[in-house]
Formats: sequence, structure tokens, C-alpha cells
Amino acid sequence: MTALASTRAELQPYLDGFANSKRGVVMTMGALHEGHLELFKRARHDCDLLVATIFVNPLQFGPNEDFDRYPRTLDDDLKLCAEAGVDVVFAPAVAEVYPGGPPIVQVSPGAMGEVLEGEFRPGFFTGVLTIVNKLLHLTRPDVTFFGQKDAQQLALVRRMVLDLNMPVEVVAVPTVRDADGLAKSSRNRYLSPEERTVALGLSRALFAGESQAAAGNGAEAVRGAAGAVLGEAAAGGGLTVDYLALVDPEDFSEVPPAFTGDAVLAVAARVGSTRLIDNLPLTLTPGVG
Ligand code: PAF
Repeated sequence: MTALASTRAELQPYLDGFANSKRGVVMTMGALHEGHLELFKRARHDCDLLVATIFVNPLQFGPNEDFDRYPRTLDDDLKLCAEAGVDVVFAPAVAEVYPGGPPIVQVSPGAMGEVLEGEFRPGFFTGVLTIVNKLLHLTRPDVTFFGQKDAQQLALVRRMVLDLNMPVEVVAVPTVRDADGLAKSSRNRYLSPEERTVALGLSRALFAGESQAAAGNGAEAVRGAAGAVLGEAAAGGGLTVDYLALVDPEDFSEVPPAFTGDAVLAVAARVGSTRLIDNLPLTLTPGVG
């Protein structure tokens, strides 16, 4: 059975009960889907105690973003957590997480948090790193699991853990996709059937770039192929591109044309009023073979 804790005091006995075992945490904003279930599966396999947090964090939403309409589906989420073998769901209220009101002290993501998502969503990564830091303090895991789908978030969390000497292991879990390629996201439920078809332009663009990398072509070919597919999708109407970038996973800076090694091809676009992101990890080996 999955327990529900809404306060730190309610959560405490579960943490104490597993003080000498491996404790894992999966952080979510609810509206759970197969992507989250994959995180739970990995965490359940690796850990003795599995805590899932469900908290729609106001600090990571801009003034014109979807904080108010973000899907809140706690009853359904609890059922999914129970099926996935989650031991405890920690679903605190805003006042429990931000007892002093909007926090004066926040975690700065530095330059890596100002590009791509950070450029289009100013303050987003400050909000994310601050809440991740808080939830790590509140749940005190040995391991925490993050989806590759939010690649820049994952990279920044890893960097925060390194730079702030935080005693937790960060495990990355691959993106889960629908059969036609669309990456699972809580925001997919905003899409009408027509918009969902248009949204496939994102993953199609990434797969086109991936084929170039797999064929041994370099950064320019990858960018060119992905850009052509995305441009076609945008020309069809209903899709506006925020960015398409081929970046170094260490710092999310654009890779130069002769780059070799691991890279991330990342895309963000708006489909109707829904903003979607997606990415693929690639290895560039131009000139090899
Ligand atoms: O990826 C998310 O769902 C959120 O950004 C997170 C990590 C739960 C922080 O609110």
C-alpha cells in the first residue's frame, strides 16, 4: 500500500524506518504518465524505500505560464503510484515547502541555466534547482532519478549536486515515447488530436538529426537535417519553433562544426498554446569509418 504524507512530520517516520537502507526519490509535479512510471520502475528496482514527490512548484513558472492550468490529478496519480510500488507519496502544500513565503535565498543555475530553456523561461532553472534542493532536504534520499526528457534540467541538477557537495546520487532514465515518436509529457494532455499530429514534427526533426550522426556525419549535417524537418513542420502551420540546438551535454553550449563526442540535439516549440520540449543524446564521430 502507498502511504500519503503531506508534511515533513508525516514523512519522517518512513524515512527513519529506512535509515540504514537505500532510499530513492522520484520528484514529479503529478499528472503522471508512462515517463514517470519508468522512473518509478528503475527506482523500485534500485532502492529499498521509494518516495515520490508530487508538488506543482510555483517558483518555476513565469507570470504568463501555465501554473494555474497545470493538470492536478492527485487521485489518479496515487493509483498509479500504488501500482508502481511507490512506498510513500509526499504531496506537500505550498506553505509546507515555502514556510517563509517566496524564498529570498534561491539556487542560481549560472550560465548553463540561461541558454535554451533558460532563455525562453527566465528564472525557470532557479525555480527548479531551488525546489530540487528543498525536496532533497525534505526527503533525504541516497539516490534520485531524473528523466533524460528534461536534459538541461538533468544536467543542472547533476552540476548542483557536484558544485554544492550534495550527498546524493543522480540517476538518468531514458525518455519514453509513444509508438509514433512523441515524447511522453504531462503537457501532451493539452493537445487536441490535430495539434498532437503537428507536435510529431519535434521528434521527427530529432530522428532526422540522429540519422545523420549515425551515418558518421558531423554537427552541421545534424543541424541541417533536423532544421529542414522542423522548418517543414513549421511551414505547415500550428507550430512555432523556440529553438533547435546541438549542444555539449556538460554545459549546454552549442558544439562547433568539427565537434566529436557526445552531444544533445534539443528542440522546443509551441503547438497552439502548448509549449513542448524534446531531445536526443547523440554521438558525433565525423570522419570515422
Ligand atoms: O521535472 C519536473 O517535473 C520538475 O521540474 C521537478 C523536477 C519535479 C521540480 O519541480
